[in-house]
Amino acid sequence: MTPRRIAVALLSALASSSVAVAAMAASATGPMAELTDEARTAVNELHQQIAGELAREYAISGTLRSIVVCKYTAPELTSALSRRYGAQVRRVTLRVRNPSLGTADRWEQTQLLDFDRRVARGEDLSSLEVAEVVDEPAGRYFRYLKAIVAGTLCVSCHGPVESMTAATRARLASEYPHDRATGYRAGDMLGAISFKKPLLETPP
Ligand code: HEC
Repeated sequence: MTPRRIAVALLSALASSSVAVAAMAASATGPMAELTDEARTAVNELHQQIAGELAREYAISGTLRSIVVCKYTAPELTSALSRRYGAQVRRVTLRVRNPSLGTADRWEQTQLLDFDRRVARGEDLSSLEVAEVVDEPAGRYFRYLKAIVAGTLCVSCHGPVESMTAATRARLASEYPHDRATGYRAGDMLGAISFKKPLLETPP
């Protein structure tokens, strides 16, 4: 189905609706399911690419040099993937290290807070996701968010400051003086990957 046909179908069937992914999975057909599948694929791809690059760099050179993976490689991978999918794919969080790239917008903030509530109610963090059609001033978008679970490698740079190596701590402090992305333990939600795709061209 072309993007425009998806958009038209969504317009008639799903105007401004909010659809829980779990409910959608039951009736896993139609434009919303197709978009959700696409978002899942993109998000998994990004997650695997970043984790793979981090693990490789870490094995070669240790924590300190791996900072460049999160700093330079992750944004590169993110924009390459965004171009390929015709969507904005990025990593966001409520406690940010680099505010210019990682700050959650209003919809993402709302969903991240809801993820916290869902975890508190006992939902499994590793499968937390949400998909919605959202009307924004700039147009109508398909939006999708999937939680990122902190792994053991992640906490070497996002864990409690006092447990980091002195070199990592110093490097982070000099590059990110307002860093709030620390204090996590393995298994915590470290943020989320966001997928945002326009459903209609903006009128001229
Ligand atoms: C070697 C250190 C290091 C490791 C290991 C690391 N990160 Fe990061 N992380 C950073 C740095 C540095 C940034 C800021 C990047 C930038 O400048 O945009 C960052 C940014 C992020 C962001 C973007 C939001 C923000 O706070 O700016 C997320 C999400 C994130 N990391 C998740 C992870 C996850 C998940 C892992 C484990 C798979 C991980 N990181 C491992 C150093 C690291």
